Amino acid sequence: MKKATLILDKDYAIGRIDPRLYGSFIEHLGRAVYGGIYEPGHPLADELGFRKDVLEKVRQIGVPVVRYPGGNFVSGFNWEDSVGPVSSRPKRLDLAWGTTETNEVGLHEFAAWAEKAQTQVMYAVNLGTRGADAARNVVEYANHKSGSYFSDLRIQNGRKDPFGIKLWCLGNEMDGPWQMGHKTAYEYGRAANEAAKMMKWVDPSIEVVACGSAAHDMPTYGAWEYEMLNECYENVDYVSLHRYYGNPTGDTPGFLARSMDLDDFIKEVVAICDAVGGRKHARKKLNLSFDEWNVWYHSNAQDKEVLKADKWGRALPLLEDVYNFEDALLAGAILITFLRNADRVKVACLAQLVNVIAPIMTRNGGGCWAQTIFYPYMHASRYGRGMALRPILRSPVYDCKDYENVPLADAAATLADDGSVTLFALNRDMKDDILLEGDLRAFGPLKVKEHILLHHDDVKAVNTEADPKNVSPVQANGAEIKDGTLSVRLPALSWNVIRLVP
Ligand code: AHR
Repeated sequence: MKKATLILDKDYAIGRIDPRLYGSFIEHLGRAVYGGIYEPGHPLADELGFRKDVLEKVRQIGVPVVRYPGGNFVSGFNWEDSVGPVSSRPKRLDLAWGTTETNEVGLHEFAAWAEKAQTQVMYAVNLGTRGADAARNVVEYANHKSGSYFSDLRIQNGRKDPFGIKLWCLGNEMDGPWQMGHKTAYEYGRAANEAAKMMKWVDPSIEVVACGSAAHDMPTYGAWEYEMLNECYENVDYVSLHRYYGNPTGDTPGFLARSMDLDDFIKEVVAICDAVGGRKHARKKLNLSFDEWNVWYHSNAQDKEVLKADKWGRALPLLEDVYNFEDALLAGAILITFLRNADRVKVACLAQLVNVIAPIMTRNGGGCWAQTIFYPYMHASRYGRGMALRPILRSPVYDCKDYENVPLADAAATLADDGSVTLFALNRDMKDDILLEGDLRAFGPLKVKEHILLHHDDVKAVNTEADPKNVSPVQANGAEIKDGTLSVRLPALSWNVIRLVP
């Protein structure tokens, strides 16, 4: 059996994990809202039309924050369309996705859903077709107590107390030519600066996220971050990163190595933020909001067909990727990477939450089930709290098309406030189990509480409504600690959560 070693110490701390590292995203896109979180008439709909089965799964994960309402959608969205009596809300063409938005669910409804889901709203403003004026107005509507036009309108619309939204996105992917109101870095930096300034004048307690480049491989990437931050550094708190991966050629080892790209991406954006800060002699440091991440490619061909058949339809089945076991392994690798960068990545959103490239799937009128990626996401959110520790890991490595020296065993570790330690470990080896030996003497006596294992013999195995548990975690045996040394077998191609308690 191959072997990897690990040293952990409570003093090797990366930083405190911001719970918002386990955020998610719901866009007015496809069946995320209509047929996803909201389906009045469904046997499990509550009094507001929200699906109780979906709410239960969201609470099961423990999602601390949900980005809303887009995404590409937000760059053409008028927030005013989404408040007031539902019967008088306009139906609008959504140019981002080629569908029709009915605005039946808007700000009030989403905030009510978020409360039931035990999550916070992270609200995106439109800096595509609109700008600073609409942005400051929606902050006034959402967060100002009363006695002004927009706060009184909110009260008139049935909500006395402010929504108190703390985290705001300044537009979405504004360097993407596909974006409504696409901008140059300078144009966006100026618009973001003015919007941020005015939004914070309305409510100084908010934090705002400036749009980084739409992806690591964009031609604008790097220069975009530098130039736009030059215009808005002083008024923003976070820079966004977005990244989706795919495996269209069936190269599993190469696919599982994509978290190396993610790590480079994070470190580069941190470096650019600090370079701009340095040039400005700023004492403030910006952190990162990785507010879209996932696997996304399975549904691309189907989406073309759906739109060909029903352009401008409502709540079309778009971006309905069916995730397989290897996707769950990559999701685990991504979460490990976030934890190892938890000193600067403070917010991250699995894009998205329900039906649209999502861990949770539903059928209209039917069931609700967990996709494969649900599990690593839930495990990290439930157990990856407290302090992120820096593991000293020695693992056999492999080379693939884009990367050399990819560790076969990869890991992140956390120390919770109650003294429990959680180890998240991935085995990327296609054939061999790996014996992981961890030196944990620095923690004093620890016991193995459980070893949760996600494995399937077929990397392409999926969960469906008919077979929802095909890829699901089990309790593994055999992990032990003797004299401060942990021994645990990581089966070939597996995601492992080893929970240790004092
Ligand atoms: O999450 C799907 C889409 O991906 C979002 O709308 C956009 O921001 C990104 O390109």
